[in-house]
Amino acid sequence: MLFLGPHILFRTNQWNPWRADNKLNSHKKKSKKNILAKIKKVFICSNCGSSYPKWMGKCNACGEWNTIQEEVIVKETKPEQRTRIWKGPDGKLKEPKPVALPEVKAGTTHRLVTPDSELNRVLGGGIVSGSLVLIGGQPGIGKSTLLLQLALNLKAKILYVSGEESEEQIKMRADRLGNLQSDCYLLTETNSSKILNHAQILEPDLIIIDSIQTLSSPHIESTPGSVSQVRECAGDLQRFAKETNIPIFLIGHITKDGAIAGPKLLEHIVDTVLQFEGDRNYTYRILRTLKNRFGSTDELGIYEMQANGLRQVSNPSELLLSQTDEELSGSTAAATMEGMRPMLIETQALVTTAVYGTPQRTATGFDLRRLSMLLAVLEKRGGFPFAQNDVFLNLAGGIRVDDPAIDLGIVAALISSLQDVAVPSNVCFAGEVGLSGEIRAVNRIEQRIQEADRLGFKQIYFSKYNTKGLDPKRYNIELKTVGKMEELYKALFE
Ligand code: TYD
Ligand code: MG
Repeated sequence: MLFLGPHILFRTNQWNPWRADNKLNSHKKKSKKNILAKIKKVFICSNCGSSYPKWMGKCNACGEWNTIQEEVIVKETKPEQRTRIWKGPDGKLKEPKPVALPEVKAGTTHRLVTPDSELNRVLGGGIVSGSLVLIGGQPGIGKSTLLLQLALNLKAKILYVSGEESEEQIKMRADRLGNLQSDCYLLTETNSSKILNHAQILEPDLIIIDSIQTLSSPHIESTPGSVSQVRECAGDLQRFAKETNIPIFLIGHITKDGAIAGPKLLEHIVDTVLQFEGDRNYTYRILRTLKNRFGSTDELGIYEMQANGLRQVSNPSELLLSQTDEELSGSTAAATMEGMRPMLIETQALVTTAVYGTPQRTATGFDLRRLSMLLAVLEKRGGFPFAQNDVFLNLAGGIRVDDPAIDLGIVAALISSLQDVAVPSNVCFAGEVGLSGEIRAVNRIEQRIQEADRLGFKQIYFSKYNTKGLDPKRYNIELKTVGKMEELYKALFE
């Protein structure tokens, strides 16, 4: 009867909505297809940079939770087109080809030695040509100040690119820093291709980029600071640095928990990662090497933030030791190492009768669990009644120390405060305390002793297992060795 299927209905008709090649529908489909080809949605892990076609709660690659974010990528240029944006110094596109190792010119490892000895130290002896250096740090810690100061003091042609501040703002900062004699060019631009074009024309000796999170590549259209942009721009800069041999400094923002914002990949791309840290309430800043392809990662630079810029601190102990001559109970000096650098730090302990049932333990600059462990050892092995007392521990200058050699200084400070007997201020300590109350050997004891000697300390207490190769005649300082906590107690408080 009239129940005819569509195949019968349209058999004789030209217009068939179900047919793919239908004229009426074909233009619609085509335009939609074009848009779909342009817009690409991806889900990228902000920790490791892995991409996924759909959102997930956990990244399978790095195992982090809640790090996957949606990003829209439009206009992706093919990699071949991208490299043609800028060419090598001779105007030709450089094609890498295999080179025999003996034929590689040694001149490529040339280092630019800066007037900033602390920076030279963390970079492993100066800026390596063609290297990409990332400096991370919290907002307001002084990253821009450090690099602008470098730009102003270096006797070389520098391109300072800022996506964060205007030229006037940078000029104001430069005025504050003093020296305006330098060959420093400012560029306020965020388009990475334009920056590289300018760099190619200007041919500077060093490029500084403040910051990588403000850059955007014209080849992909996600927002600046997103994982794909950061990765893209860093990749472009790395290619530029490697092929032109111009070193590039990148400033990077860090996230709440202290990691450099953007994918971990950024840290893999660059040659050196430096971290600029410090407490905003204190004036000193520490520049730490986290990764270095051209030097040791144990290095550390120390600065002091002053009204006219950052001052290099070549003698860090001057900041970290107390300036009073009075001998106070609960205060001792510990010979610690920060990376390869020995420094003496004042440790202060305050032990008071607990007001509440559960005694309080507070530590600044030291691991609270390690403090609890030291207190437990003192209680159990020495019979000191810390369970009825509140304990506050503070490392001078707000510095954070992870070196186990600070244990001995802390133990001495704790006993000194508990008994209210001062430890002479010309005595210092270097030793790790074990669970059974034994004083353990620590690394680089010679350097620690030398530093304490240089600063005029009269006695240093350290482990008796640490004496190998030490010659007491070489130092003015008296070397005191102890094996157990009881021995320390006898020597200091009896
Ligand atoms: P800045 O370099 O802008 O920090 P970042 O780039 O890491 O965000 O540093 C800003 C801080 O440094 C600001 O709080 C003011 C202080 N400062 C000084 O104390 N002295 C100076 O000479 C300068 C330039 C800044
Ligand atoms: Mg800044």
